[in-house]
Amino acid sequence: MSIKVLGTGAYVPEKIITNDDLQKLVDTSDEWIRQRVGVGERRVSVNETAADFAVKAAQQALEDANMLAEELDLIIAATITSETVCPTVAGSVQKAIGASCPAFDVNSACSGFLFALDTAVSFLERDGYKNILVIGSERLSKIVDWSDRSTCVIFGDGAGAFVITKGEGYLESKLFTAGGDEVIKIPGFGGSSPFYTNEPMHPYIFMDGQETFKFAVNKIVHDIKELVEKAGLTLEDIDHVVTHQANIRIIEFASKRLKIPMDKFFVNIEKYGNTSSASVPIAMAELARSGKLKRGDIVVMSAFGGGLSSAVCILKW
Ligand code: UT7
Repeated sequence: MSIKVLGTGAYVPEKIITNDDLQKLVDTSDEWIRQRVGVGERRVSVNETAADFAVKAAQQALEDANMLAEELDLIIAATITSETVCPTVAGSVQKAIGASCPAFDVNSACSGFLFALDTAVSFLERDGYKNILVIGSERLSKIVDWSDRSTCVIFGDGAGAFVITKGEGYLESKLFTAGGDEVIKIPGFGGSSPFYTNEPMHPYIFMDGQETFKFAVNKIVHDIKELVEKAGLTLEDIDHVVTHQANIRIIEFASKRLKIPMDKFFVNIEKYGNTSSASVPIAMAELARSGKLKRGDIVVMSAFGGGLSSAVCILKW
């Protein structure tokens, strides 16, 4: 399948909220958060939107790709926290960077970036689509209940982006959805029609942490094994694993069960927490800048979360 990543970018807002800061809001501790989740601090927006983050990550990815905005044929943004349903985050980015191509958003919660990337890969098969900007951007701080210690210690804000073109490097991918709201639910704006009788919903993230944890570990392990085999590779062939940064213990479980050493897993959860669809592209942008990622390396990207959903793909960098 056809893809080459030409450039990556990432952006996080300036404001840092430490675990000690959170102790002033809820009954928690730095020790609990570090041990049970692996987060030390997270970035929180003061007044920037998910679209603002997306613009900064996109500009960095374009610069990295040495490409002008006018050369883009499509922009796809994954988000669950757009300030407006319309314009979309992708549409706002298109205007801000001076592109003139079509632009649209996708929503598959924390798996959103990989769903967007897979969609972009399909577009590359079509005539007229050569260069595509794919973004994951989230301002989760606006949908977090800051009085709920079981969720507010986990999440953070940020954005990541790829500029891709036709190439040979998308070896395999798998998307999965098990629709339902029992495990994770984030109500949208319910509206206020005089004809509605339904009760207004609590507009914040609800997550059954333990069920999500089990789902995540099982999906990562099962999907990576399946996909690696389908690509005609072995687990030893993998140079880097970049998973959704939801919980360090999920990543450690996956490492143990797949027998892939932890030093092949890229981890930055300590700095940013869980940034939903932005998590994988921020990690990829940091991995690319670390000097550890070489052309030809085999990279597995894996994400999971609300939907429930999961996505895995294998890239030859
Ligand atoms: O991005 C979407 C994907 N999301 C995920 O993958 C998240 C997956 N789940 C998780 O990461 C973990 O389940 C959590 C981090 C959400 C929770 O960790 P846990 O180890 O599953 O904790 P728990 O819910 O089983 O709670 C254990 C205890 C409870 O106290 P009791 O009932 O044993 O007395 C909680 O009330 O920890 C308590 N607790 C806390 N204590 C201090 C829950 N949150 C906190 C907190 N600080 N922030």
